Amino acid sequence: MAKRIQFARTGGPEVLELVDVAPAEAGAGEVRVRNQAVGLNFIDIYFRTGLYPAPALPSGLGTEGAGVVDALGEGVEGLAVGDRVAYAQGPLGAYAELHTLPADKVVALPDTLDVETAAASMLKGLTVQYLLRQTYPLKGGETILWHAAAGGVGSIACQWARALGVRLIGTVSSPEKAALAERNGAWATIDYTKEDVVERVRELTGGAMCDVVYDSVGKDTWETSLDCLKKRGLMVSFGNASGPVEGVNIGILNQKGSLFVTRPSLNGYADTRERLEAMAADLFAVLESGEVTVDIGQRYPLAEAAKAQEALASRRTTGSTILIPDPA
Ligand SMILES: NC(=O)c1ccc[n+]([C@@H]2O[C@H](COP(=O)([O-])OP(=O)(O)OC[C@H]3O[C@@H](n4cnc5c(N)ncnc54)[C@H](OP(=O)(O)O)[C@@H]3O)[C@@H](O)[C@H]2O)c1
Repeated sequence: MAKRIQFARTGGPEVLELVDVAPAEAGAGEVRVRNQAVGLNFIDIYFRTGLYPAPALPSGLGTEGAGVVDALGEGVEGLAVGDRVAYAQGPLGAYAELHTLPADKVVALPDTLDVETAAASMLKGLTVQYLLRQTYPLKGGETILWHAAAGGVGSIACQWARALGVRLIGTVSSPEKAALAERNGAWATIDYTKEDVVERVRELTGGAMCDVVYDSVGKDTWETSLDCLKKRGLMVSFGNASGPVEGVNIGILNQKGSLFVTRPSLNGYADTRERLEAMAADLFAVLESGEVTVDIGQRYPLAEAAKAQEALASRRTTGSTILIPDPA
């Protein structure tokens, strides 16, 4: 038997329960990973609350983890039992001691990368990879606005943007989070709970405004974000921390300056083995170079997943959060 977190109905953190299950065998083309660290992500909260429907209930939770290969199914090549691996996609169920998933979602870890860093950065770092390097291929010299700049994805984005020579203006909700984002390379920060974001962006850019706005806050920031763009700028709406953006009148993009808008996801970019490998190689290269370091702000035992999610949802975390399966 092995422990995992599951939920039988959607709702608050209290629906998460720690249960003993018979771990799934690795079927053809699958690998079973013994997790040594599991990544906590905001998307896990969307599944728990039902904003994103789980395929079936009861359901496991989580899609990010790192550890060692525990078993291999038929036909899996290029991996061996005991290999150190990480993953950020595949079926829900990473909040577990053992997780079985398609082998083509798993990447081998370079010796230089420890499992905690991997679990704290696979999903978030691959997300930053596609957002900064593919959704809008930044060349350096651009000005971008990044909401929630002291969070898990935001902390990696600040550093990667600096490495690319991009001026990242980060929004945050406290002076402590502002200091963290600036240490990570944000060119400037704005406290969006107190300051007028559009006016501050106007001041900071001398009226030029931003080439791209990266908005994972959603409902609360949508309109402000559009107002921070220059003409023909790109609005990248990639999350719903405050709730989803709904009921958009497309004419608003014309009124605010012939804007572009996209609503991307990691699964839409890392959608083939080749693309996943190329994106992971890019991420591992910036981690190995030291240009990006992963700030693990919080660690919780796996059994305390509900507590960890409560902290993430109530804006009490900074950087990445990981869950550690029973170390015994
Ligand atoms: N589309 C994709 O491919 C993709 C992939 C990964 C993540 N995401 C999205 O990226 C975002 C960041 O993910 P993460 O796991 O790294 O989380 P996170 O940024 O560590 O945490 C979310 C942050 O959002 C801010 N926030 C603003 N309004 C909020 C509200 N009403 N409730 C809760 N938080 C609020 C908070 O920062 P302040 O206190 O500074 O406001 C909070 O710390 C999430 O929206 C997630 O869904 C999207």
